[in-house]
Amino acid sequence: MKTKRLTSRSQTTPLCALSLLILSAPGLTAAAPTANIDPDTRARTIEAQMTDEERFTLLHGIMALPQKDPVPASELGGIYAAGYVAGVPRLGIPALRETDASLGVTNPRGARGNDFATALPAGLALASSFNPYLARSAGATVGNEARAKGFNVLLGGGMDLIRDPRNGRNFEYLSEDPLLSGVLAAEEVIGAQSQGVVSTVKHYALNANESHRRALDARIDPAALRESDLLAFQIAIERGKPGSVMCSYNRVNGVYACGNGYLQNEVLKETWHWPGWIMSDWGAVYAPGYEQQGLDQQSGSQLDPKVFFDAPLKADLAAGTFTHARLSDMVRRILRSLYAVGADKPTPPGPIDFAAHNEVALEGERQGIVLLKNDNVLPLAPAIHSIVVIGGHANVGVLSGGGSSLVTPPGGFKATNPLGGEGEMADWRAEHYSGTAPLAELRKILPNAVIRYEPGLYPASAAAAAHRADVAIVFVTKYEQEGYDSPDLTLPAGQDAIVSAVAAANPNTIVVLETGNPIAMPWRDHIKGLIAAWYPGQAGARAIAEVLTGKINPSGHLPVTFPASTADLPRPDAPGLDTPEDQPITVNYSEGADVGYRWFAKQGRAPLYPFGYGLSYTHFSYSNLHLHGKSDLTATFTIRNEGTLAGADIPQLYLTNLGGTKTVRLLGFQRVFLSPGESRQVELHVDPRLLASYDTQTKQWRISPGRYEVTLAKYAGAEGETAAMTLPKRQFGH
Ligand code: BGC
Repeated sequence: MKTKRLTSRSQTTPLCALSLLILSAPGLTAAAPTANIDPDTRARTIEAQMTDEERFTLLHGIMALPQKDPVPASELGGIYAAGYVAGVPRLGIPALRETDASLGVTNPRGARGNDFATALPAGLALASSFNPYLARSAGATVGNEARAKGFNVLLGGGMDLIRDPRNGRNFEYLSEDPLLSGVLAAEEVIGAQSQGVVSTVKHYALNANESHRRALDARIDPAALRESDLLAFQIAIERGKPGSVMCSYNRVNGVYACGNGYLQNEVLKETWHWPGWIMSDWGAVYAPGYEQQGLDQQSGSQLDPKVFFDAPLKADLAAGTFTHARLSDMVRRILRSLYAVGADKPTPPGPIDFAAHNEVALEGERQGIVLLKNDNVLPLAPAIHSIVVIGGHANVGVLSGGGSSLVTPPGGFKATNPLGGEGEMADWRAEHYSGTAPLAELRKILPNAVIRYEPGLYPASAAAAAHRADVAIVFVTKYEQEGYDSPDLTLPAGQDAIVSAVAAANPNTIVVLETGNPIAMPWRDHIKGLIAAWYPGQAGARAIAEVLTGKINPSGHLPVTFPASTADLPRPDAPGLDTPEDQPITVNYSEGADVGYRWFAKQGRAPLYPFGYGLSYTHFSYSNLHLHGKSDLTATFTIRNEGTLAGADIPQLYLTNLGGTKTVRLLGFQRVFLSPGESRQVELHVDPRLLASYDTQTKQWRISPGRYEVTLAKYAGAEGETAAMTLPKRQFGH
């Protein structure tokens, strides 16, 4: 069998070796061609041979978990998982065995006993790497493990744009920028599908808040929607070619997403010509008729009021209100996506090379950690005498986010703290700590230092311990979960008071953030070092210790703006906080396409930390910015490592002035790894949609004629070398 090699460039540790390692793992190979004919022809041929009863079989699935469904595992092919759709053995159509997959293969609430999988760092960590090659490796890792466990459909990756830093699912997603999210999501899809499983991008669309997600009407200007969230999906879909898209729970401009003809039929299928199938989120089909609005498959159907896509649709077919042509279309879309990636092939469960995959998790966190503040305190000096590590269960492991994306790592969780409360996912609500402990990892790297641990329960005890050490490292945690938004950006359980007390007691205080979102930091001016480790994944503790000690030069950059205050957000109050769950709420995403850093720039507000920001233990210079092209725009420039340490940087190109009006839009980025003194020429081709606005009347992207000024910057809103070009008027479709 041919092994497809993923190439790699520009990372902290050259990934070529890593990719080889992953791809030489047993069973990790590119899918073999499924047949000699193209997937569409094959789908048409097979579909034509099906009975209507068989066709309907493919249109609805169940949530295949013991607590939600009485179906015994034996009837589900022995696999309890998020989803199951029966196949048609007569025609070689396999059952769809679906697993959640955004951060690894899940084992929902331990339904499969001790079935473990590689737990990758949060999506926010992946996006902080700005590294498409890493995204591809992550996708390939998840795809490989899914295949080895008998799954053929991944319910990932999640990629909604981050519009609210209180959204409980941001840790599963990537960024606030359509280009960054689209490019990385595409690479995850390519990596996953290279392993012979279908990948699903979700949640389509504008599922930007979790509270009231089934009763939330997300309102937005349609043109702005095309320029932001839909552009992210468009980029991911055209580059990555996922077999499936999952529609979301919420309404978009008054119409539920899974029954939204504009989003599904007009945009996704007709305008983008995407040939795959749309599956519903679990419990997101609220009424009949969604098949007319583009939905192809009803998932987790026992969570909906009815299995609409079975008996009711059969009756509609008989009555002539549901056409046979549409029935065939729905089935063919499913089949062609399976055939396109070889997901119809039976693969016997195989061994998983967990050691190789652990390297992917480790590298993900190494590149995902963002150094936010360093007043000459980091990296820790090798001769350091005493350190106190405080709080965050840093003596146990590292935190994960919760909900359907939670992955049970090899060996299981180190500690679980059930939280409960109200809401449909209250039973899932628990902090899980896993992997190795940051405390142990630091002790490994600094064997001569005295490193003590203090749990950080009381400010006075934490301060006393900090007072006795040369350096105090406080680990702070904030748990986020699907189904819940945080009310604000504060740290829970009195952690702010702990950090303040420690900072007052020890001038060398460093804070490590294990959070699934930006947070407020009232103590920021009183500490010397700060790193965002996000949810670090199973190997993340080691990466944190490596960054703190300088074994790894930090290179992550923020994929999301850290606001100075919730008052600066488009919606200062958390949507729906005071409304009982399931009561309809309307959220006006009135910032439109000005998401995140664009909103802050437009309002003239300075964030706490801007999008794209991240420090290194070396420093880089940029020069020779030039723009080329006539109607297209290409930028070239030189980047040089001016320091004495090897490291990676992420130069970012922003549109900063359009025809005399100031603006900030990310046009391109590249992760570049350089040895000390090394320089490299970089070329970035700008996607014309990033220079355009969308006209919903003519259904065209429009570039206005005029002067386009760009800035080569270290983060959004930063000063930098500029260049300008005059572009002619241009219009184009899609
Ligand atoms: C989530 C989806 C997930 C599905 C199946 C839903 O609650 O929103 O992202 O794929 O459950 O687990």
